[in-house]
Amino acid sequence: MRVLITGADGFVGSHLARYLVENTGAEILGLGLRESLEGDPWDRCDYRKCDILDEGKLREILLDFRPQYIFHLAAQSSVQQSWERWELTYDIALKGQCHLMDAARDSGEEIRIHVACSAEEYGEVSEDELPLKESHPLKPATPYAMSKVIQDYLAVFYHQAYGLETIRTRAFNQTGPGQSPHFVVSDFAYQIARIEAKKEPPLIKVGNLSARRDFTDVRDVVRAYWELLRRGEPGEVYNVCSGRDYSIQEILEKLLAISPMEIQVEVDPARVRPLDIPVLKGDNSRMRELTGWEPVIPMEETLRDVLDWWRERE
Ligand code: GDD
Repeated sequence: MRVLITGADGFVGSHLARYLVENTGAEILGLGLRESLEGDPWDRCDYRKCDILDEGKLREILLDFRPQYIFHLAAQSSVQQSWERWELTYDIALKGQCHLMDAARDSGEEIRIHVACSAEEYGEVSEDELPLKESHPLKPATPYAMSKVIQDYLAVFYHQAYGLETIRTRAFNQTGPGQSPHFVVSDFAYQIARIEAKKEPPLIKVGNLSARRDFTDVRDVVRAYWELLRRGEPGEVYNVCSGRDYSIQEILEKLLAISPMEIQVEVDPARVRPLDIPVLKGDNSRMRELTGWEPVIPMEETLRDVLDWWRERE
Protein backbone atom coordinates (compact mmCIF):
# COMPACT_ATOMS: atom_id res chain seq x y z
CA MET A 1 0.00 0.00 0.00
CA ARG A 2 1.48 3.34 -1.10
CA VAL A 3 0.53 6.58 0.69
CA LEU A 4 1.46 10.10 -0.46
CA ILE A 5 1.31 13.05 1.97
CA THR A 6 1.46 16.63 0.67
CA GLY A 7 2.50 19.28 3.19
CA ALA A 8 4.38 16.49 4.93
CA ASP A 9 6.90 18.88 6.46
CA GLY A 10 4.15 20.63 8.41
CA PHE A 11 2.92 19.93 11.92
CA VAL A 12 0.09 17.55 11.01
CA GLY A 13 2.11 15.89 8.22
CA SER A 14 4.86 14.64 10.48
CA HIS A 15 2.40 13.36 13.10
CA LEU A 16 0.46 11.61 10.34
CA ALA A 17 3.59 10.01 8.85
CA ARG A 18 4.60 8.77 12.32
CA TYR A 19 1.14 7.30 12.91
CA LEU A 20 1.14 5.50 9.55
CA VAL A 21 4.67 4.14 10.03
CA GLU A 22 3.78 2.77 13.46
CA ASN A 23 0.31 1.44 12.70
CA THR A 24 0.16 0.38 9.05
CA GLY A 25 2.50 -1.40 6.69
CA ALA A 26 2.25 1.51 4.25
CA GLU A 27 5.07 2.70 2.04
CA ILE A 28 5.03 6.44 2.67
CA LEU A 29 6.26 9.34 0.56
CA GLY A 30 6.01 12.82 2.04
CA LEU A 31 6.23 15.99 -0.06
CA GLY A 32 7.00 19.44 1.27
CA LEU A 33 8.88 22.70 0.80
CA ARG A 34 11.88 21.85 2.94
CA GLU A 35 15.00 20.49 1.27
CA SER A 36 15.12 17.42 3.49
CA LEU A 37 13.71 16.20 6.79
CA GLU A 38 15.67 14.51 9.53
CA GLY A 39 14.81 12.53 12.64
CA ASP A 40 11.66 10.69 13.56
CA PRO A 41 9.57 9.69 11.59
CA TRP A 42 11.58 10.62 8.47
CA ASP A 43 14.31 8.09 9.18
CA ARG A 44 11.57 5.48 8.66
CA CYS A 45 9.88 6.81 5.50
CA ASP A 46 10.64 8.77 2.33
CA TYR A 47 10.49 12.50 1.79
CA ARG A 48 11.06 14.69 -1.27
CA LYS A 49 11.12 18.42 -1.74
CA CYS A 50 8.24 19.42 -4.03
CA ASP A 51 6.32 22.68 -4.14
CA ILE A 52 2.65 21.91 -4.77
CA LEU A 53 2.67 24.87 -7.20
CA ASP A 54 5.30 23.10 -9.34
CA GLU A 55 2.85 21.19 -11.50
CA GLY A 56 5.44 19.35 -13.61
CA LYS A 57 7.42 17.98 -10.69
CA LEU A 58 4.31 17.03 -8.74
CA ARG A 59 2.93 15.11 -11.71
CA GLU A 60 6.25 13.33 -12.31
CA ILE A 61 6.45 12.22 -8.67
CA LEU A 62 2.84 11.09 -8.56
CA LEU A 63 3.04 9.09 -11.79
CA ASP A 64 6.26 7.48 -10.59
CA PHE A 65 5.15 6.66 -7.00
CA ARG A 66 1.57 5.68 -8.01
CA PRO A 67 -0.07 6.21 -4.59
CA GLN A 68 -3.30 4.44 -3.65
CA TYR A 69 -3.99 6.93 -0.86
CA ILE A 70 -3.22 10.65 -0.80
CA PHE A 71 -3.46 12.97 2.20
CA HIS A 72 -3.60 16.52 0.85
CA LEU A 73 -2.38 18.68 3.72
CA ALA A 74 -0.35 21.32 1.85
CA ALA A 75 -1.74 24.76 2.71
CA GLN A 76 -0.94 28.14 4.16
CA SER A 77 -2.55 27.11 7.46
CA SER A 78 -2.40 30.22 9.62
CA VAL A 79 -5.67 32.19 9.81
CA GLN A 80 -3.78 35.20 11.13
CA GLN A 81 -1.18 35.18 8.33
CA SER A 82 -3.86 34.73 5.64
CA TRP A 83 -4.86 38.39 5.97
CA GLU A 84 -1.41 39.45 4.73
CA ARG A 85 -0.59 36.43 2.58
CA TRP A 86 -3.96 35.99 0.90
CA GLU A 87 -2.59 35.55 -2.61
CA LEU A 88 -0.32 32.66 -1.64
CA THR A 89 -3.08 31.21 0.53
CA TYR A 90 -5.51 31.14 -2.43
CA ASP A 91 -2.88 29.95 -4.92
CA ILE A 92 -1.94 26.91 -2.84
CA ALA A 93 -5.59 26.07 -2.24
CA LEU A 94 -6.78 26.42 -5.83
CA LYS A 95 -3.83 25.70 -8.12
CA GLY A 96 -2.16 23.25 -5.75
CA GLN A 97 -5.27 21.12 -5.42
CA CYS A 98 -6.06 21.23 -9.16
CA HIS A 99 -2.48 20.12 -9.97
CA LEU A 100 -2.79 17.24 -7.54
CA MET A 101 -6.23 16.11 -8.67
CA ASP A 102 -5.40 16.36 -12.38
CA ALA A 103 -2.27 14.24 -11.87
CA ALA A 104 -4.32 11.75 -9.84
CA ARG A 105 -6.87 11.49 -12.67
CA ASP A 106 -4.15 10.91 -15.23
CA SER A 107 -2.41 8.26 -13.14
CA GLY A 108 -5.12 5.75 -14.00
CA GLU A 109 -4.91 4.31 -10.47
CA GLU A 110 -7.84 4.02 -8.08
CA ILE A 111 -6.86 6.63 -5.52
CA ARG A 112 -8.62 7.79 -2.38
CA ILE A 113 -7.76 11.42 -1.76
CA HIS A 114 -8.19 13.11 1.60
CA VAL A 115 -8.66 16.89 1.46
CA ALA A 116 -7.97 18.72 4.71
CA CYS A 117 -10.65 21.37 5.06
CA SER A 118 -11.48 23.42 8.15
CA ALA A 119 -14.14 24.40 10.67
CA GLU A 120 -13.24 28.01 9.83
CA GLU A 121 -15.44 27.55 6.76
CA TYR A 122 -18.55 27.71 8.98
CA GLY A 123 -17.67 31.30 9.91
CA GLU A 124 -19.51 33.26 12.58
CA VAL A 125 -22.26 31.22 14.22
CA SER A 126 -24.68 31.85 17.07
CA GLU A 127 -24.83 29.82 20.30
CA ASP A 128 -28.10 28.14 19.34
CA GLU A 129 -26.48 26.71 16.16
CA LEU A 130 -23.88 24.74 18.17
CA PRO A 131 -22.59 22.08 17.90
CA LEU A 132 -22.04 22.52 14.17
CA LYS A 133 -23.05 19.72 11.86
CA GLU A 134 -21.55 19.20 8.40
CA SER A 135 -24.83 20.44 6.87
CA HIS A 136 -24.36 23.90 8.43
CA PRO A 137 -24.03 26.65 5.76
CA LEU A 138 -20.52 27.80 4.94
CA LYS A 139 -19.88 31.51 5.58
CA PRO A 140 -16.14 32.13 5.27
CA ALA A 141 -15.06 35.21 7.21
CA THR A 142 -11.29 35.16 6.67
CA PRO A 143 -9.05 34.66 3.61
CA TYR A 144 -7.95 31.35 5.14
CA ALA A 145 -11.58 30.19 5.47
CA MET A 146 -12.27 31.28 1.89
CA SER A 147 -9.28 29.22 0.70
CA LYS A 148 -10.63 26.16 2.53
CA VAL A 149 -14.09 26.62 0.98
CA ILE A 150 -12.34 26.59 -2.41
CA GLN A 151 -10.63 23.29 -1.50
CA ASP A 152 -13.87 21.86 -0.13
CA TYR A 153 -15.88 22.60 -3.30
CA LEU A 154 -13.02 21.57 -5.59
CA ALA A 155 -13.02 18.14 -3.92
CA VAL A 156 -16.78 17.84 -4.52
CA PHE A 157 -16.36 19.00 -8.11
CA TYR A 158 -13.59 16.50 -8.92
CA HIS A 159 -15.71 13.74 -7.40
CA GLN A 160 -18.84 14.68 -9.34
CA ALA A 161 -17.21 15.62 -12.64
CA TYR A 162 -14.46 12.99 -12.83
CA GLY A 163 -15.39 10.33 -10.27
CA LEU A 164 -12.30 10.89 -8.09
CA GLU A 165 -12.72 9.32 -4.65
CA THR A 166 -12.30 12.46 -2.58
CA ILE A 167 -13.02 12.50 1.16
CA ARG A 168 -13.15 15.83 2.95
CA THR A 169 -12.53 16.51 6.62
CA ARG A 170 -13.39 19.77 8.38
CA ALA A 171 -10.97 19.86 11.27
CA PHE A 172 -11.60 22.08 14.25
CA ASN A 173 -8.61 23.33 16.25
CA GLN A 174 -5.80 20.90 16.74
CA THR A 175 -2.67 21.14 18.78
CA GLY A 176 0.18 19.01 20.11
CA PRO A 177 3.96 18.85 20.38
CA GLY A 178 5.83 20.44 17.48
CA GLN A 179 3.14 22.92 16.43
CA SER A 180 4.27 26.31 15.13
CA PRO A 181 4.04 29.17 17.64
CA HIS A 182 1.67 30.94 15.25
CA PHE A 183 -1.14 28.91 16.87
CA VAL A 184 -2.48 29.78 20.27
CA VAL A 185 -1.54 26.78 22.46
CA SER A 186 1.95 26.54 21.04
CA ASP A 187 2.30 30.33 21.12
CA PHE A 188 1.49 30.52 24.85
CA ALA A 189 3.59 27.43 25.67
CA TYR A 190 6.57 28.85 23.75
CA GLN A 191 6.37 32.13 25.67
CA ILE A 192 6.13 30.28 29.01
CA ALA A 193 9.12 28.07 28.16
CA ARG A 194 11.20 31.18 27.30
CA ILE A 195 10.15 32.87 30.54
CA GLU A 196 11.10 29.72 32.53
CA ALA A 197 14.47 29.69 30.75
CA LYS A 198 14.95 33.36 31.84
CA LYS A 199 15.13 34.49 28.22
CA GLU A 200 12.13 36.78 28.67
CA PRO A 201 10.65 38.74 31.61
CA PRO A 202 7.67 37.03 33.36
CA LEU A 203 5.05 38.58 31.09
CA ILE A 204 2.98 36.66 28.55
CA LYS A 205 1.43 38.49 25.60
CA VAL A 206 -2.00 37.41 24.44
CA GLY A 207 -4.76 38.33 21.99
CA ASN A 208 -8.51 37.77 22.29
CA LEU A 209 -9.08 35.52 25.33
CA SER A 210 -12.87 35.38 25.04
CA ALA A 211 -12.89 33.28 21.83
CA ARG A 212 -13.91 29.64 22.29
CA ARG A 213 -12.55 26.76 20.27
CA ASP A 214 -13.04 22.99 20.04
CA PHE A 215 -9.54 21.49 20.48
CA THR A 216 -8.35 17.97 19.65
CA ASP A 217 -4.86 16.58 20.11
CA VAL A 218 -3.17 16.18 16.72
CA ARG A 219 -2.33 12.55 17.57
CA ASP A 220 -6.07 11.85 17.81
CA VAL A 221 -6.70 13.87 14.64
CA VAL A 222 -4.31 11.86 12.42
CA ARG A 223 -5.92 8.62 13.60
CA ALA A 224 -9.29 10.07 12.51
CA TYR A 225 -7.83 11.09 9.12
CA TRP A 226 -6.61 7.56 8.43
CA GLU A 227 -9.91 5.94 9.47
CA LEU A 228 -11.85 8.38 7.31
CA LEU A 229 -9.66 8.01 4.25
CA ARG A 230 -10.02 4.24 4.40
CA ARG A 231 -13.67 4.01 5.36
CA GLY A 232 -15.27 7.34 4.40
CA GLU A 233 -17.87 7.69 1.66
CA PRO A 234 -16.30 9.24 -1.48
CA GLY A 235 -17.65 12.77 -2.04
CA GLU A 236 -18.62 13.06 1.63
CA VAL A 237 -17.43 15.46 4.35
CA TYR A 238 -16.73 14.73 8.04
CA ASN A 239 -16.17 17.05 11.00
CA VAL A 240 -13.08 16.12 13.00
CA CYS A 241 -13.41 17.52 16.52
CA SER A 242 -13.78 16.58 20.16
CA GLY A 243 -17.20 18.24 20.57
CA ARG A 244 -15.95 20.14 23.62
CA ASP A 245 -15.05 23.84 23.58
CA TYR A 246 -12.70 25.83 25.80
CA SER A 247 -12.26 29.59 26.01
CA ILE A 248 -8.75 30.79 25.20
CA GLN A 249 -8.75 32.23 28.74
CA GLU A 250 -9.22 28.67 30.13
CA ILE A 251 -6.40 27.38 27.94
CA LEU A 252 -4.14 30.15 29.20
CA GLU A 253 -5.02 29.43 32.83
CA LYS A 254 -4.39 25.70 32.42
CA LEU A 255 -0.98 26.34 30.86
CA LEU A 256 -0.02 28.91 33.50
CA ALA A 257 -1.05 26.43 36.22
CA ILE A 258 1.48 23.87 34.89
CA SER A 259 4.33 26.38 35.22
CA PRO A 260 5.94 27.01 38.62
CA MET A 261 6.58 30.67 37.61
CA GLU A 262 4.48 33.72 38.52
CA ILE A 263 3.60 35.15 35.10
CA GLN A 264 1.71 38.37 34.35
CA VAL A 265 -0.68 38.54 31.38
CA GLU A 266 -0.81 41.47 28.93
CA VAL A 267 -3.14 41.94 25.96
CA ASP A 268 -1.08 42.88 22.90
CA PRO A 269 -3.28 44.78 20.38
CA ALA A 270 -1.16 43.34 17.52
CA ARG A 271 -2.44 39.88 18.49
CA VAL A 272 -6.10 40.90 18.29
CA ARG A 273 -7.37 40.07 14.79
CA PRO A 274 -9.45 42.30 12.49
CA LEU A 275 -12.12 39.63 12.67
CA ASP A 276 -12.10 36.70 15.06
CA ILE A 277 -14.85 34.08 15.06
CA PRO A 278 -16.19 34.10 18.66
CA VAL A 279 -16.96 30.38 18.99
CA LEU A 280 -16.50 27.10 17.10
CA LYS A 281 -17.75 23.79 18.42
CA GLY A 282 -18.43 20.76 16.27
CA ASP A 283 -20.68 17.74 16.12
CA ASN A 284 -18.53 14.67 15.35
CA SER A 285 -21.35 12.08 15.27
CA ARG A 286 -21.08 11.41 11.51
CA MET A 287 -17.44 10.34 11.87
CA ARG A 288 -18.03 8.49 15.15
CA GLU A 289 -20.89 6.46 13.72
CA LEU A 290 -18.77 5.43 10.73
CA THR A 291 -15.46 4.69 12.45
CA GLY A 292 -16.10 4.40 16.20
CA TRP A 293 -13.36 7.05 16.68
CA GLU A 294 -13.09 8.79 20.06
CA PRO A 295 -10.46 11.29 21.15
CA VAL A 296 -8.34 9.61 23.86
CA ILE A 297 -5.78 12.26 24.88
CA PRO A 298 -7.06 14.61 27.61
CA MET A 299 -6.50 18.36 27.21
CA GLU A 300 -4.25 18.55 30.30
CA GLU A 301 -1.90 15.93 28.81
CA THR A 302 -1.82 17.75 25.48
CA LEU A 303 -0.97 21.09 27.11
CA ARG A 304 1.78 19.51 29.22
CA ASP A 305 3.27 17.78 26.16
CA VAL A 306 3.29 21.02 24.16
CA LEU A 307 4.94 22.91 27.02
CA ASP A 308 7.51 20.12 27.57
CA TRP A 309 8.32 20.14 23.85
CA TRP A 310 9.21 23.84 24.05
CA ARG A 311 11.04 23.42 27.39
CA GLU A 312 13.37 20.89 25.76
CA ARG A 313 14.23 23.47 23.09
CA GLU A 314 14.70 26.59 25.24
N1 GDD B 1 -2.28 32.55 17.65
C1 GDD B 1 -2.78 33.23 18.71
N2 GDD B 1 -1.92 33.94 19.53
N3 GDD B 1 -4.10 33.18 18.94
C2 GDD B 1 -4.59 33.84 20.02
C3 GDD B 1 -3.76 34.57 20.89
C4 GDD B 1 -2.36 34.62 20.63
O1 GDD B 1 -1.58 35.27 21.36
N4 GDD B 1 -4.54 35.09 21.87
C5 GDD B 1 -5.79 34.72 21.62
N5 GDD B 1 -5.83 33.96 20.48
C6 GDD B 1 -7.06 33.39 19.90
C7 GDD B 1 -7.29 33.72 18.43
O2 GDD B 1 -7.76 35.04 18.26
C8 GDD B 1 -8.33 32.64 18.10
O3 GDD B 1 -9.62 33.07 18.52
C9 GDD B 1 -7.92 31.45 18.98
O4 GDD B 1 -6.98 31.97 19.94
C10 GDD B 1 -7.26 30.32 18.23
O5 GDD B 1 -6.27 30.88 17.39
P1 GDD B 1 -5.28 29.94 16.53
O6 GDD B 1 -4.62 28.95 17.39
O7 GDD B 1 -4.40 30.86 15.72
O8 GDD B 1 -6.27 29.10 15.58
P2 GDD B 1 -7.51 29.53 14.68
O9 GDD B 1 -8.77 29.19 15.44
O10 GDD B 1 -7.41 30.90 14.15
O11 GDD B 1 -7.35 28.52 13.45
C11 GDD B 1 -6.99 27.15 13.71
O12 GDD B 1 -8.12 26.34 13.68
C12 GDD B 1 -8.71 26.13 12.42
C13 GDD B 1 -9.91 25.19 12.61
O13 GDD B 1 -10.86 25.77 13.45
C14 GDD B 1 -5.92 26.71 12.72
O14 GDD B 1 -5.33 25.50 13.20
C15 GDD B 1 -6.48 26.47 11.36
O15 GDD B 1 -5.48 25.92 10.49
C16 GDD B 1 -7.67 25.51 11.49
O16 GDD B 1 -8.23 25.22 10.25
